[in-house]
Amino acid sequence: MLRRHTSVTSIMALITISAIVLTACGTATEAPKAKKLEMFSWWTAGGEADGLNAMYAVYKTANPDVEIVNATVAGGAGTNAKAVLATRLTGGNPPDSFQLHAGLEVQTYSPDQFLQPLDDLYTSEGLEQAFPKDLLALLKYNGHYWGVPVNIHRANVLWYNKKIFEDNGLKPPATPVEFLQVGEALKAKGIIPLVMGTKEGWEAGHTFETVLIASLGAEGYKGLWTGATPWTDPRVTQALEAFKLMLANANSDHAALTWDGGAQYLVDGKGAMLIMGDWTDGWFTSKGFTGYGWAPAPGNAGIFDALSDSFALPKNPPNPDQAKAWLQVAGSKAGQEAFNPKKGSICARTDCDLGLFNEYLKSAAADWQKDAIVPSVAHGAAAYESWAIKYKDILQAFVTSGDTAGAQAALQQACVDAKICK
Ligand code: GAL
Repeated sequence: MLRRHTSVTSIMALITISAIVLTACGTATEAPKAKKLEMFSWWTAGGEADGLNAMYAVYKTANPDVEIVNATVAGGAGTNAKAVLATRLTGGNPPDSFQLHAGLEVQTYSPDQFLQPLDDLYTSEGLEQAFPKDLLALLKYNGHYWGVPVNIHRANVLWYNKKIFEDNGLKPPATPVEFLQVGEALKAKGIIPLVMGTKEGWEAGHTFETVLIASLGAEGYKGLWTGATPWTDPRVTQALEAFKLMLANANSDHAALTWDGGAQYLVDGKGAMLIMGDWTDGWFTSKGFTGYGWAPAPGNAGIFDALSDSFALPKNPPNPDQAKAWLQVAGSKAGQEAFNPKKGSICARTDCDLGLFNEYLKSAAADWQKDAIVPSVAHGAAAYESWAIKYKDILQAFVTSGDTAGAQAALQQACVDAKICK
């Protein structure tokens, strides 16, 4: 399943492969052949890369003689990486392990043909006892586990610049209506209310899923992905209209910026709010920025829009032993405690030490326990990849067209194409 905007050649040019650690432990006369692990992901931004490096360090402690090849393809949400990976898997050139969202995304890699089930590893490492039941259910596809989850991310967070809100006597908006009122107050002061980057084509779809949640509630939103809620529902129309009004509050250069480019406005005090997943917390931390506050996206209180990153094992990886050792680290308490505080996510495991996490992540852990959980579509949990791509493309086009009726009809058609709607 190749994303079609980018040619494979230009995607390949984006690949940066860096050997982060080289180890030679032999004598000057006989250098043993270096063992390798090639790990594939799209984590290149601050926070994401820091988290990954912290987990590599745990791996290196247990496997000091292995050279880690950090294969990354930049592009948030895997925009470019997923196409490169599909080409590598079908071309018989897999990495040893790769990033995979928990949920229906796995279908796009034809797991029966190209991946190894990880059920034995789950048994040997006691992973069914380590992860929450809801997450285990999300990870199982065709009766098998295909990925070891490292985290739980929350997608529906409103990040805001605390100083801007304090200086202007404002409170973060709890509802879409309040969002527009706050937007007017900020515009009157010459401050950009909403910062966004929409350059990579997934960000509008990401923000819109929080607007759908606000309009439909947890059950109504979940029903969009199962056929229980029709896409023709008036609450979808209402969500598109609300999103259009929201976009009128955004920075005019959003089409030229990636998600972290948008977030920079908030760091610089030029923009007030950002709706983005909690990798933003890791990114802010990597920038040394502490002047941010957080709240559920408007109208999303009590609902946790969830996704999880896992690592998968292809068939015939070049270094199977090193790959398995990597998956052991990925599922371990030590690996997850090193990774998540930097990544801006909570552990997939239930036994991590919360004392290692900052205030935001402690609040996310508490919300994960008490909120209604819904699956993110922009990040692989809610729908097959082919449907998720159509959804994101429709929202990306809507940002410029503002054509509510056209977008709603296209969303309905995408659901029909996915064989969920009639
Ligand atoms: C998500 C991924 C996160 C983060 C984000 C931005 O799809 O699950 O870990 O990397 O994209 O790139």
